[in-house]
Amino acid sequence: MTSRLRVRRKARRTQTLLLTGLFLTSAVLAPVTASAAPKPIYQDPKQPVAKRVDDLLRRMSLDDKLGQMVQAERNGATPAQAARLRLGSILSGGGSSPAPNTAESWANTYDAYQRAAVDTPLGIPTIYGVDAVHGHNNVWGATVFPHNVGLGAAGDPALVQKIGRATAEEVSATGIDWDFAPCLCVVRDERWGRSYESFGEKPEDAIRNSTVINGLQGGSLNGPASVLATAKHFIGDGGTTGGDDQGNTEISEQELRAVHLPPFQEAIKRGVGSVMVSYNSWNGVKDHGNKFLITDLLKNELKFGGIVVSDWNGIDQIDGQTGFTAAEVSQSVNAGIDMFMVPHDYVKFLTLLRAELNAGRVAPSRIEDANRRILTKKFELGLFERPLTDRSYLETVGSKEHRDLARQAVRASQVVLKNDGVLPLAKKDNKIFVAGKNANDIGNQAGGWTISWQGQSGPAIPGSTVLDGIKAAVGKSSTVTYDREADGIDAGYQAAVVVVGETPYAEGAGDRPDDLSLDAEDLTTLAKVKATGVPVVAVLVSGRPLDIAKQLPQWNGFVASWLPGSEGAGVADVLFGDYKPTGKLAVSWPDSVAQEPVNAGDGKTPLFPHGFGLTYPRR
Ligand code: GLC
Repeated sequence: MTSRLRVRRKARRTQTLLLTGLFLTSAVLAPVTASAAPKPIYQDPKQPVAKRVDDLLRRMSLDDKLGQMVQAERNGATPAQAARLRLGSILSGGGSSPAPNTAESWANTYDAYQRAAVDTPLGIPTIYGVDAVHGHNNVWGATVFPHNVGLGAAGDPALVQKIGRATAEEVSATGIDWDFAPCLCVVRDERWGRSYESFGEKPEDAIRNSTVINGLQGGSLNGPASVLATAKHFIGDGGTTGGDDQGNTEISEQELRAVHLPPFQEAIKRGVGSVMVSYNSWNGVKDHGNKFLITDLLKNELKFGGIVVSDWNGIDQIDGQTGFTAAEVSQSVNAGIDMFMVPHDYVKFLTLLRAELNAGRVAPSRIEDANRRILTKKFELGLFERPLTDRSYLETVGSKEHRDLARQAVRASQVVLKNDGVLPLAKKDNKIFVAGKNANDIGNQAGGWTISWQGQSGPAIPGSTVLDGIKAAVGKSSTVTYDREADGIDAGYQAAVVVVGETPYAEGAGDRPDDLSLDAEDLTTLAKVKATGVPVVAVLVSGRPLDIAKQLPQWNGFVASWLPGSEGAGVADVLFGDYKPTGKLAVSWPDSVAQEPVNAGDGKTPLFPHGFGLTYPRR
């Protein structure tokens, strides 16, 4: 057989094989393509969201709709339990982390809940929420940014937006789609345990920094790494009498509208996707049961169209008794709450809600409104099309780029309140002693909401401490000696940096109704240093101003560092003048705890006023 023939036959054989293959393929596909029913409207991403919501609502049973309004805690509901009850959302409360606590493990956990959710008949994805309030702070290895009180002092909205974006990337790396942040509370009394979650005492402080919402949500919720932001807590938490967390905010409607409402108006203007209701009462009525606040003011007057979510077991508090009742369920649903953070008692909640609905004490229209709001955000987030984690963001978790951003935020948030010329410290030919319980404690400098709900002292997260930064900053001709209690210090040192302040806390555990003074350890350390005559630079690592008026005259320099997070070296950048301080107080500094509440314009004279902060003289 000639080669040409062989070639021709081979070609024919190849052609036959190809045609056979095509026929088989089309034969296999034919029944599928011929009989495939048109996609339901809700499953078609080309359809307008409103039409998809309408179509899906028509297909949902009452169980589907009631379940959609419940958010359970990860450690209170398995993926199977959540799917069986058609729960609409899962959360990880502070510190509720999978084991091992790695970004990958979080992504696996998220995907397990999401797979179970989309495997249900209607395939409605879940939405998973966490408190990423200063970075993705539950996750070991994530970048931990300064808490809001420091960002308020930085006065840099563009920087805060970048922090929101970086946080959104790290949150997205773990699948999570809902961030219970930012807190837009306006702190009016620093005895409050959540003062550090506030951007400052003026509504303008929160308004200016609500750019974080745009960072978190991106240009559109359907965009890469966009997560749903939450303006919280609505409304008046920062104004409770005596700074009593979850207490009573006793102010007129005029003051509520002037001080506490504007940040939420700004957040809505910025398209915030959810609002969390506050635990506090307003003039004796718990916010969680207040229809005027949630429906009349927030939904109707401010035209908020997103999800109103309760706080953790927030509906339990309406009647002042522990646990929730049928009356509290119907009162909070009718008040306008859409998603109920009922971490463990969700079966009881669903039972009571169905009973209240059947008894005519909850209107079906409320169930529809809540579902419409929840489903709208799920469609807008693209969860129906992309339900699982986009693991390409895993490389952003704790990345150098994000840590550099965090260090810049630390620099910008430092407020120099006193300087007799001791600052900036010399890098060369210097002999520096470093002391104090917060000099080398990354857990203390990160504060609450870090790995665990309350935070913890010690090597809680990777990063750099203030001491690490000081050691790295000095030249070879200098020495740095550290001792937490200042043991070994003598007059031979040229400067002493004493880092004092608070240990971590969150929420009510941080309330200090009677005393804002430094603790005994700090006072002892400071006295020991003072006795040597070495010039003292006091650095305060705390969630708020403390009562330091008596000690201030003994200091040559004083820097408020707030809660800098994982990149403590940023404090040293300011101490050595690598960054000239630009921070300004976002809260008035009381001359004593007795002066609280003290705020700009109230006629009192604080130790340092809102807006105060020194920089270095031109060298
Ligand atoms: C907490 C806080 C709230 C947080 C929620 C979920 O109690 O009040 O800010 O988002 O529970 O952790």
